[in-house]
Amino acid sequence: MLSQQQNELLTKVGPGTPMGNLLRRYWIPVAATSELKDKPTKKVRVLGEDLVLYRDRSGNLGLIDERCPHRKVSMVYGIPEKDGLRCQYHGWCFNKQGQCLEQPNEPATSTFKDRIKIKAYPVQEMGGLIFGYLGPEPAPLLPRFDGFVVENAVRMIGNAVIPCNWLQIMENSMDPIHTEWLHGHYNAYILERDGKSLEDAFQRKHNKIEFDAFEYGIVKRRLLEGQTEESDDWRIGHPVVFPYMLAVGSGGLGAYQFQIRVPIDDENTWHVWYMAYAPGEEVEIPEHLKEIPLYEVPYKDENGDYLLDYIDGQDIMCWITQGTIADRTDERLGTTDKGIIAYRQMLKEQIAKVEHGEDPIGTIRDPEKNQFIELPLERHKHHFSAGFKSVFSRFQTRFSPTIAEVVELFAKVGVK
Ligand code: FES
Ligand SMILES: [Fe+2]
Repeated sequence: MLSQQQNELLTKVGPGTPMGNLLRRYWIPVAATSELKDKPTKKVRVLGEDLVLYRDRSGNLGLIDERCPHRKVSMVYGIPEKDGLRCQYHGWCFNKQGQCLEQPNEPATSTFKDRIKIKAYPVQEMGGLIFGYLGPEPAPLLPRFDGFVVENAVRMIGNAVIPCNWLQIMENSMDPIHTEWLHGHYNAYILERDGKSLEDAFQRKHNKIEFDAFEYGIVKRRLLEGQTEESDDWRIGHPVVFPYMLAVGSGGLGAYQFQIRVPIDDENTWHVWYMAYAPGEEVEIPEHLKEIPLYEVPYKDENGDYLLDYIDGQDIMCWITQGTIADRTDERLGTTDKGIIAYRQMLKEQIAKVEHGEDPIGTIRDPEKNQFIELPLERHKHHFSAGFKSVFSRFQTRFSPTIAEVVELFAKVGVK
């Protein structure tokens, strides 16, 4: 149970808030590269700030204040130029540093434009995502986590806007027990209503759960009934990468999945499922699969009812029904919630570090350390034991336009 004040400390992300200051110390995805392909501007709301992301005619990206300082229109409708973005209303032009370069209707001798500078943030592209950095300079390096940079991979990006605070989504990732219930017993009940049955991969009881802090966050491990302590689930586990990402997959088999929770503001989260499938050197990836698609993950049907017949849909239902910002002043945590407690503790410690002028956990400033960051990931994950094909149909990957082809690629190297 938290006090109202503690709950606000952990959930409010706007400019000047302690959590907002912490989150601003990390590079944050703001768009998929493919989103700027047909239209070179995108409205971005992140950490409660309204921005416009654009690609200019030289191919450079910019992330600047959404509103033109002249008459405050939205520059989401602006014109990309050779250098920067031009406001559509009266033609003021801004570069990616936010500096006004031109005011075409002011006198040629005017220095007015030199005194006009708007908010602007650095942006970088990696693996089909565009990341922005909203914090103080000097910006740390953009971490090259394995799935983003692994070579010879098919990538795809699912996404959904979830109308709730980011923290309850992250806390779900620190709660292994819910898989047994929500994705196991509840899933079986949903299927039973449709006259179907469920294989038992998710229903196994958790005999032990453990959480270990590591360089980039917290690794969670589980020992399920019937497993030995030699199992990958217990020996290796998989991490929550601080502060906003869960990594799952079957590392050794070349399947990476990141679930990234981008706080749009206090009440909405851009949920990104980032997948990279690397079937190995011997498999040639067809040209058309090198494009990285962005697809929608639907979670309600046409009647407004939750889609509950897939794993991520079940999670989403729980995240949203906890309330827009979960009321932690009235919760009753049990012994199996120790992961949630550990994660909140880490958040508080890192807020304090930033307040003391230190870099928070996972900050990378040494390029040597940032070549290829391999995250701990089970090779044989019990929950995926039914095989790729079956697993993909039970997760949000069922909505991916290219997943069937990935299954075929993996079949070529004997992974089914
Ligand atoms: S409102 Fe943008 S140039 Fe006038
Ligand atoms: Fe879940």
